[in-house]
Amino acid sequence: MPRNPAVARTLPSLRRALDQLRARGRTVALVPTMGALHEGHLTLVRRARKRCDRVVVSVFVNPTQFAPHEDFSTYPRTWQADLAKLAAEKVDLVWNPGVGIMYPDGFATRISCEGPAVADLEDRFRPHFFGGVATVVGKLFIQCRPDVALFGEKDYQQLRVVTQMARDLDLGVKVTGVATVRERDGLAMSSRNVYLSPEQRAAAPTLHRALKDCAADIRAGRDLKTAVAKGAATIREAGFALDYFEARHAETLAPVNARDDGPIRLLVAAKIGTTRLIDNLGV
Ligand code: PAF
Repeated sequence: MPRNPAVARTLPSLRRALDQLRARGRTVALVPTMGALHEGHLTLVRRARKRCDRVVVSVFVNPTQFAPHEDFSTYPRTWQADLAKLAAEKVDLVWNPGVGIMYPDGFATRISCEGPAVADLEDRFRPHFFGGVATVVGKLFIQCRPDVALFGEKDYQQLRVVTQMARDLDLGVKVTGVATVRERDGLAMSSRNVYLSPEQRAAAPTLHRALKDCAADIRAGRDLKTAVAKGAATIREAGFALDYFEARHAETLAPVNARDDGPIRLLVAAKIGTTRLIDNLGV
């Protein structure tokens, strides 16, 4: 059985462990997670291993990115299984702070983002979300001082927000996006997929299918608005309550009207039952 990685739970122990990892100029990659690890996370870890000498994974379910009505208390927490998976990947260090370490009494600072964070996508439905993500990721970058940090493209707007924040605040970390890992039927891997009933699970790959068909229509020269409307209709017909299905500029996330308006990313968010799923695809 592989040996468990070192786990740091206080800032002094994190600093000591990082000093050792960085000895003799070694580079460090960070993979920020909220645990409940699946193949998507492990793909980030394997990519991190290729990019840097040492790999640190943070496991922290961040309360500030959940609204009061969201699933913070029920979010899957699978610490022992996560640790075994990270051991199998030979991760060098796990940073697992408690809420009191990340947000001690009297904590009163929040990173507020504009640009891709106010693109009228996730932010329209989860107005608290990117402030919470930017604050915790900013803290993780400052605490761990990674050379590289890896994020899944599944949370595409989050990737753009974190990339912009790291650049704007000169945090000295290269933020890297990694392609979404999918189940065999196309459903994007997500820790929240465990909430799906068998019927909902069967319907869930419609999101990816609609994105693929829409991208193919746009590539084939069909009218962009018509292609997007068709994608939205497909998702509604499969029983989802659609939040958005949109074509945006892949970097700025600004709305686009035609294929020539730039590299295009299609983004979708929809609820099936009480579970909200998101996905996206490049055209
Ligand atoms: O994508 C996630 O799992 C979280 O939003 C992140 C980046 C770990 C911040 O809590």
